[in-house]
Amino acid sequence: MTIFHNSAMIRKTKVSVWRAWRTLTVRLQCSSVSSSAGPASLDGSGNASSVSSEKPLHTPVMVKEVLHYLNIQPAQVVLDMTFGGGGHTKEILNTVPEVTVLALDRDPSAISLAQQLAKQHPGRVKPLLCRFSELEASLCRLEVKPGSIDAVLLDAGCSSMQMDQAERGFSLSKDGPLDMRMDAERYPDMPCAADVVNTLDQQALASILTAYGEERHARKIASAIVEARRVSPITRTQQLASVVAGAFPPAVIYARKDRLHRAAHVATKTFQALRVFVNDELNELLAGLRAAQAVLKPGGRLCVITFHSLEDRLVKRFLQGEDLSNLDHFSQRKHSRSKEKLLDSRNSSSSWIPLRKKVIIPEKDAVRDNPRGRSAKLRAALRN
Ligand SMILES: C[S@@+](CC[C@H](N)C(=O)[O-])C[C@H]1O[C@@H](n2cnc3c(N)ncnc32)[C@H](O)[C@@H]1O
Repeated sequence: MTIFHNSAMIRKTKVSVWRAWRTLTVRLQCSSVSSSAGPASLDGSGNASSVSSEKPLHTPVMVKEVLHYLNIQPAQVVLDMTFGGGGHTKEILNTVPEVTVLALDRDPSAISLAQQLAKQHPGRVKPLLCRFSELEASLCRLEVKPGSIDAVLLDAGCSSMQMDQAERGFSLSKDGPLDMRMDAERYPDMPCAADVVNTLDQQALASILTAYGEERHARKIASAIVEARRVSPITRTQQLASVVAGAFPPAVIYARKDRLHRAAHVATKTFQALRVFVNDELNELLAGLRAAQAVLKPGGRLCVITFHSLEDRLVKRFLQGEDLSNLDHFSQRKHSRSKEKLLDSRNSSSSWIPLRKKVIIPEKDAVRDNPRGRSAKLRAALRN
């Protein structure tokens, strides 16, 4: 199923990548030894640390701002589309009496935490294991009607729990298998990051790094990957980081700076691009926004938190009512369309009223306490 989502995305970006993805998935299907278990049940399973452990598994960003813009009233129904470590949901439960939270995540380990929280708050938390793209069908099965939800939160990207577990293969700084799949337990046949770097041709790899990482040196990095895998397959995160670093002079490996002006490894954008590609994150985000539009009541509120410019551009344009049926412009910083054309493609009767025109960013103190939230951007809107 993911293969088709990814194929759709690729067709809209580069035909060469699409062809390569098909080759990749066909090869994987032929060589697969594990049989697909198919998606697990809706309420999920899996192991995760305790939801009430002292150190939060994931520090939620802009909690105060989210609560302010969602303005949840007692006994309302809220959809948390990205439960993660449950930080936002817990704040909602603790702040608003008698609220019910539908707690969704594609990652079974996040849903186990939601199940623990559901035990602590009987009847108030309903865990839901699914992807954004599966949400409408899942809610239908639960007999939740379109237009019946009061508030929706979507906190995009991956959680610290995912980043911090070396064996999940998301982290550049911790050695682990080069995996990066958020829901491999549900879809074990879905290609992982190692499949991508070891199978796709150089042009396809460069297209992915450009489209999803906005990596200026995409061709150089793709060429280094192809060279390295001739010697041995790239199967570990630190192996990939070294291969990418090897394409640059030692002096520039940490020459890039993040938003806090801290040194960032030269492979950071490569890791982002692979993660976005493997999890089909942009198509999923768009599916999530469309699902939020369908489930919210008129007057219901939406908060979306994003962590990189590709995501934020998508959210901004969606909320402006732009027709996003073709996603191929999202990777371009300066897209060539004229302002007139852009305005034409916007829906004059947008389904959203912005609650604040400008994007909301975390306060300085919050970034100091939680540097991972430094690139977070929040957009809030009211369902028309
Ligand atoms: C940034 S974390 C959310 C953290 C959460 N707000 C908290 O306070 O702990 C993002 C979560 O969204 C989930 N996620 C990402 N893409 C998803 C998708 N397409 N469908 C469902 N869940 C998704 C990830 O598995 C991850 O747990």
